[in-house]
Amino acid sequence: MTISIQEVRKEEIKNLARYESAPAVDRAFVEKAIEHVLAKIDQSLDVFTEKFPDSSSVNLVYKPIDNVEWTTSFWTGMLWLAYEYTGDEKYREVAERQVGSFKERIEKRIEVDHHDLGFLYSLSCVSAYKLTGSEEAKAIALKAADLLITRYYEKAGIIQAWGDLNDPKQRGRMIIDCNMNLPLLYWATEVTGNARYRQIAEAHIKQAAKYIVREDASTFHTYYMDPVTGAPLFGNTHQGYSDDSCWARGQAWGIYGFPLSYHYTDDWSLVELAKKLTNYYLNRLPEDEICYWDLIFTDGEEERDSSAAAIAVCGMLEIAKHLPLTDPDKHVYDNAALTMIQSLYENYRTDINSDANGILKHAVYYKGGGRGVDESCIWGDYYYFEALVRLAKDWKMYW
Ligand code: GLY
Repeated sequence: MTISIQEVRKEEIKNLARYESAPAVDRAFVEKAIEHVLAKIDQSLDVFTEKFPDSSSVNLVYKPIDNVEWTTSFWTGMLWLAYEYTGDEKYREVAERQVGSFKERIEKRIEVDHHDLGFLYSLSCVSAYKLTGSEEAKAIALKAADLLITRYYEKAGIIQAWGDLNDPKQRGRMIIDCNMNLPLLYWATEVTGNARYRQIAEAHIKQAAKYIVREDASTFHTYYMDPVTGAPLFGNTHQGYSDDSCWARGQAWGIYGFPLSYHYTDDWSLVELAKKLTNYYLNRLPEDEICYWDLIFTDGEEERDSSAAAIAVCGMLEIAKHLPLTDPDKHVYDNAALTMIQSLYENYRTDINSDANGILKHAVYYKGGGRGVDESCIWGDYYYFEALVRLAKDWKMYW
């Protein structure tokens, strides 16, 4: 069944009182939290100069890997945030060396047969271009954008997420995570004047809104379209609990990704939609405000996903930024974001005097695949840091 964005239900937020006043997250709190992040970055800067942290930790330690995963740019992005926040050249030096690694990766086509080029090149190279004006970084990011649009199916109006375009298992499959890959395309239009990138991003976000979001404002993780006829087929999950449950990180990618497309398109319905996803998410949180790895769980022994919480915080801050003061959701989302940041800092940060080389504990990468369960996940670390920098300054997005 096809539903329009307007038909997606907006739940009332339960226990609204929990977000009525702002928690004690003041400037001093934010500075203290950022100090922890910087100390952890410093602890690993030598190890992760030529190498990158793996996507998830083992016993809270990320092993060093080559630039081959979809996640390597989260570390580079953290270095850019650290450089921007402190002005310390040591972070810029390492980040710039890593830009060279991203150049090699796109030129030699190393593990780039997927849509995550947006994550990879927004945080490594668009960031470099925006912060330093590097024309080389800009050119590298544009190469990534050029490759990303080769995954677009005109008839279906979507970018295929994973694998070779002829792989029958992956053909015509879009996933909610892709919302975060689209800013690379909007940016590419901005800097080149070529409207094609933006048209593809706009087509994809419309299809994601139409098919990945369910009527109750939960989301499928993935959705198949027929690439030849363009017909919608069915939704299912890869990393969630079940096809009809709501994978927490997927919902968080929606909460953040839809307003990012609003930022570039001025399509207000995307903000309205993100609010509906947010309310669904807020209504399924346990007492400490950090979601379980799938929103089907609201209490009990299942693992939390602190990384989804960190993404959702950035999303709520982004949504709230766009809401007028007269919108009562504005202060609710701001306060909810602050409440979660406080909980992440107080209950989920790694021990400063330990070998743990991540920032947040208790994340889940892929429960069904047994990967990174109750560990650190490098994107969670990135989004937590981004959220703190958003609170510390008027941050210009790398997205
Ligand atoms: N984008 C893949 C994930 O969130 O695990």
